[in-house]
Amino acid sequence: MAERAKFREMKEGTKEDWAIIGGEYRAFAKGLPDRVLDHLKLLDGDFGGFPVCRLEHSLQTATRAHRDGRDESYVVMALLHDIGDTLGSYNHPEVAASILKPFVSEELHWICQNHGAFQGYYYFHHLGMDKNARDAFRDNPHFEACREFCEKYDQAAFDPDYESEPLEFFEPMVRRVMAKPLASLYAKAIAEE
Ligand SMILES: [Fe+2]
Ligand SMILES: [Fe+2]
Repeated sequence: MAERAKFREMKEGTKEDWAIIGGEYRAFAKGLPDRVLDHLKLLDGDFGGFPVCRLEHSLQTATRAHRDGRDESYVVMALLHDIGDTLGSYNHPEVAASILKPFVSEELHWICQNHGAFQGYYYFHHLGMDKNARDAFRDNPHFEACREFCEKYDQAAFDPDYESEPLEFFEPMVRRVMAKPLASLYAKAIAEE
């Protein structure tokens, strides 16, 4: 059986306890790309009334970004931008943005976090909402980047006839981008191997 810490309350914890937990944590953290890829697969076959399922939409968004010459972290952001659909039914962009945050630039994080309002430009008016809701972000330095992501890739990725790359194509990119956090509260624990 794997070793376990002996405390019943954290305040009783010892260096030995935390050596055990730290070792487990490092191994677990390395499995993040696998867990993310597995979770992304939950979107397969989930149409929600759209012309393509959520997985195909994700693949198509990423494929369009990749074929347009975007770098790897951008493509991974594009692939994962709707991964929060399963658990974040009322705030899906924030779920994806939180998962990506340790691994991408502030701009890519911002795009992901705010793409919902920017996507609204293409459909909010059909639901009696304000299509210009994105204008609340006009003064933000990332406004144009987010507008472009939605215009070129996200809103354009509902074509059932488009030949998207399969998930396997993006797997190595996800593994590389998520190999090491650029910043994390736990960065020191991860570094102490
Ligand atoms: Fe979305
Ligand atoms: Fe999307």
